Amino acid sequence: MLSLEYLSCKRDKYYNKKNSSQTVAAVKYNIMIEYNYPLLRHNSFGLDVVAERFFGYSTDSELKDFLRYEYDPSTRMLHIGGGNNLLFTGDFHGTVLHSSIKYISIESETDDNVFVRVGAGVVFDNFCRQAVECNWGGVENLSLIPSQVGAAAIQNIGAYGAEAKDTIVEVDAIEIATGKRRTFGVEECKYGYRSSIFKTALEGQFVVVSVLFRLDKHPKPNIEYAALRDFFDHDYTPNIEEVRDAVISIRQSKLPDLKRLGNAGSFFKNPYCNRADFERLRRQYDDMPHYDISDNLVKIPAAYLIEKCGLKGKRIGNVGVYDRQPLVIVNYGGATPREIIALADEIRQSVRRKFDIDLMPEVIYV
Ligand code: EPU
Repeated sequence: MLSLEYLSCKRDKYYNKKNSSQTVAAVKYNIMIEYNYPLLRHNSFGLDVVAERFFGYSTDSELKDFLRYEYDPSTRMLHIGGGNNLLFTGDFHGTVLHSSIKYISIESETDDNVFVRVGAGVVFDNFCRQAVECNWGGVENLSLIPSQVGAAAIQNIGAYGAEAKDTIVEVDAIEIATGKRRTFGVEECKYGYRSSIFKTALEGQFVVVSVLFRLDKHPKPNIEYAALRDFFDHDYTPNIEEVRDAVISIRQSKLPDLKRLGNAGSFFKNPYCNRADFERLRRQYDDMPHYDISDNLVKIPAAYLIEKCGLKGKRIGNVGVYDRQPLVIVNYGGATPREIIALADEIRQSVRRKFDIDLMPEVIYV
């Protein structure tokens, strides 16, 4: 059952201590915590799990108030975005935070660039759409990735030859322990493949509240990614609106429709392999696709490895390996976390046995 608790007693206590008027407090602290909150709408796998406590906020100050009065380091806390990259392994015993900070505003402009600040709770594709409508280049290749802007900056989402970090200038975040704001320049974010300082050294320590992007007023479409290049006639140079349409069309043809089949996009990361190991594998599998990362490192599509294990399209109960993109695990309806974990384990074991490669989940288990 859903129950609500306004933080009035807490704020009253605080203001009594400070001898301030409760009327001010009521205006200032308009935050609400919900108990036994169903997370079905907040995880794209469509798992029917519950959060012990849930706090949704739409301004920085609501978040700060929450951290000031309700933060308890001994309680588990999880900040979710669209819940598109999470696997809840069961009910969440702790507090789930969710941002609805939604604004898109121009911060400054030069002859070549426009600097746009976007609230962490904005749906990333809404930002992509608006950027393309204004003919500002940089995020069109990331169209339709299911994510909110804050999560996109933490996860460094990427697709079709572009990554979020390519356009990020800085990330504004609030430190959980102190409630203080800190701005991270893009270098400080330590971006890597689906990674950032917010997932490594500073994991769980900051909440992203906004991201500043640099977009190009004279867009140069990037169609280097093979699937995108093949979409257009050989000598045709598309504009960014056409690139966005192409990306949407390719994604829709390969990836399951979230409204129909629960999933979290790529379940695994594409593994890196040293060149000697890759050459050894290549002698056995001469069609193995790969991307050179450095002289000694090669990236191999996990989709290929999973397909070669004969798992493409495999279904066990309510879960399965998507038949058009085996990197995606789908919920056919009513799946439990246990079923998804069991299938993911089976995929990992098969790939390890056949290729001696350990697939690492891109999805975060919580
Ligand atoms: N492939 C197969 N069999 C298949 C599908 C693909 O062997 O059924 C091989 C093909 O060789 C293909 C290669 O895998 O060329 C790569 O496939 P694709 O271009 O579909 O991309 P991906 O490596 O599987 C990555 C991202 C996706 C992103 C696409 C497009 C990761 C983990 N995944 O997938 O991101 O949309 O590239 O750029 O890096 C996500 O993060 O959730 C996500 C969907």
